[in-house]
Amino acid sequence: MSAALRAQPHVLVAADAAAAAQAAARLWVDTVKNALAARGVFHVALAGGSTPREVHRAVTGQPDLDFAWHRTHVYWGDERAVPPHDPRSNYKMAEETLLDGVPLMASQVHRMPADAEDLDAAARAYAATLVAALAPQPHAAPILDLIWLGLGTDGHTASLFPGSPALHVRDRWVQAVTDAPFDPPRRLTLTLPVLCAARRVAVIATGREKADIARTVLEGDYAPDRLPMQAVRPAPGRLIWIMDDAAAEKLTRTARARA
Ligand code: 6PG
Repeated sequence: MSAALRAQPHVLVAADAAAAAQAAARLWVDTVKNALAARGVFHVALAGGSTPREVHRAVTGQPDLDFAWHRTHVYWGDERAVPPHDPRSNYKMAEETLLDGVPLMASQVHRMPADAEDLDAAARAYAATLVAALAPQPHAAPILDLIWLGLGTDGHTASLFPGSPALHVRDRWVQAVTDAPFDPPRRLTLTLPVLCAARRVAVIATGREKADIARTVLEGDYAPDRLPMQAVRPAPGRLIWIMDDAAAEKLTRTARARA
């Protein structure tokens, strides 16, 4: 299927990573306001890796969110199988750049227990946490208000990697991964049904090193098994990409707006 036939994301391009982070923070504020107005609570899943660092810092600097933190619940899109204070931990990255700077109680922070010995049991436990708070009906995918995703240079997102069996899971919401091609090999990840059920999915991709993969994902042939990010297709209007000029520089056919 060509790119043209797929529901295209809304693409925002900022001048640089700092401006992209500010645009991401504004999106966070907008999504919080919608969620609190509709349901009185905001459930967000954080991305891992390094790009979210600047986004998190921009979010902690948003005075417009002071009213919202006591009604915010934080989850993760994926986590590495390392202790929570290991330098590779997505929880540690979020703690340093976001959690330490905002007034959340421990009951509002839902760490993915990927450091558990039994990864499958940990996946089931985290799925139960999501279902208890977010499942609209039995056996339906939990619905988060906002899921942040990073873009790997191989087209992976969360811990959904090219060719992984995890890409084909439709009846579980959290999946153990034991063969990730990036260290560490063992992880937990939200599955595609959860990513696609979200009220809003925001991909944050900045830097020249993401230019090739961004063009391949956004403008290349539809090959979701080889390019997992292409499989992230929530309902129309719910997928937003926030990029900087460097990451967007090779796009030729993608409609985009200035952030
Ligand atoms: C992880 C992330 C992963 C990340 C991308 C981009 O745990 O590694 O969830 O999907 O978002 O690899 O990482 P960078 O932001 O570091 O480029």
